Amino acid sequence: MSVTGNQRQIFLRLAAELRPHWHRDAAFAQRLHTLIARQRAFGSRDRRLYRELLYTTVRYAPWIEPRLDRDPVEAAATVAWLAADLPATRAYRLAHLADRPPCPASVAGKAALLHEAPDILLPAWLKEECPQAWSELELDALHRRAPLWLRIQSGDHAAIAAEFAASGWTWRTSSVHPEAWEVLAEADVTQSQVFKQGLFEIQDLGSQLILATVDIPAGERWLDACAGAGGKTLQLARLVGPGGKVDAHDIRPAALTELATRAGRAGLRNISVRQAEPDGLYDGVLVDAPCSGSGTWRRAPHLKWTTTPEQIARHATAQLDLLGQFSARVRPGGRLIYATCSLARSENTKVMEAFLAQQPEFTPVAPMAGFGYVSDGVGLAILPAAHDTDGFYVATLRRS
Ligand SMILES: C[S@@+](CC[C@H](N)C(=O)[O-])C[C@H]1O[C@@H](n2cnc3c(N)ncnc32)[C@H](O)[C@@H]1O
Repeated sequence: MSVTGNQRQIFLRLAAELRPHWHRDAAFAQRLHTLIARQRAFGSRDRRLYRELLYTTVRYAPWIEPRLDRDPVEAAATVAWLAADLPATRAYRLAHLADRPPCPASVAGKAALLHEAPDILLPAWLKEECPQAWSELELDALHRRAPLWLRIQSGDHAAIAAEFAASGWTWRTSSVHPEAWEVLAEADVTQSQVFKQGLFEIQDLGSQLILATVDIPAGERWLDACAGAGGKTLQLARLVGPGGKVDAHDIRPAALTELATRAGRAGLRNISVRQAEPDGLYDGVLVDAPCSGSGTWRRAPHLKWTTTPEQIARHATAQLDLLGQFSARVRPGGRLIYATCSLARSENTKVMEAFLAQQPEFTPVAPMAGFGYVSDGVGLAILPAAHDTDGFYVATLRRS
């Protein structure tokens, strides 16, 4: 059998093994990772090839599944056509695409050539939760492979640039946020010395823009109430500077251990990990709440199929509870930032409306910078298309 035929068979076998799970398993990304890691014969290029083919399959599942049932070889060719053009996929794609026109960049263009409906690539419940997602630009952005964004966390841009250039990696600085670099090469940047020295962290540009919408003066004392592994904690710690302080809290001890490692690598000594629920009052509290993750569908496309309106409603209830709990830690005159990585109004605008109705001593604060995003009157929906980011929501409130 030809190399391509063999690769196609492997892809179809892996897809068949994963198919029962991509509509059901919220931990599908881990399942896919484990399945690929189990393939002893795979080199790193094989792993990249099959990961891209499988993610493409899940991203375009409503177009691919009927083809898998009807004609697996045609399904494999369609996936190859839709997959990103990367060093790891190039030869495979070329072998499959000889008689097809180039794949258009837009979802509408792809849909037209495949005689498919663009609409079915998003779950119907999102129509009410985020009607903007159906605009051509957002639909395209939601179906692009997510870029690799770094947050530069030292003034030493030159050292990073020097090592990247020496490794042959290209990058660009974001036009809206100079601390954010997009890596344009397929690179494992975590193997670089400059990463090990803590000069940058991997963080989506949209995630970085959340705190860039707020004026956070040096010297303030903040609580990161849902700190996780600390993506935003480290950014906050840099903003408040050595004269300020960030307490990082989360209910997951393992995440806080990772946070402490990252803070150590970055040389940030103004972060304290708080496993126990913090008391006292802070100049500011960040509630980066657990959510449906609908803003991260570019990285986790299975969530399009596993998330239900009932889950969204449960998240909204929990988010309001978390805000009630942690808003008590904001000093009078201090600020509360609410953020999610969700596109759903129920988890964003509606949670804010409910919170403001319950807690009249909080009032919305206009963003310091809006980056062109549209306000809902309280916060900003960071939609993917404008700056090629994941989707987020951020609102800042002040306590009277
Ligand atoms: C969206 S993630 C945080 C991501 C993180 N801020 C970052 O920038 O990488 C939400 C976090 O909330 C945490 N969480 C869930 N329930 C919580 C609670 N009751 N109190 C504190 N943290 C909680 C989860 O463990 C999770 O790490």
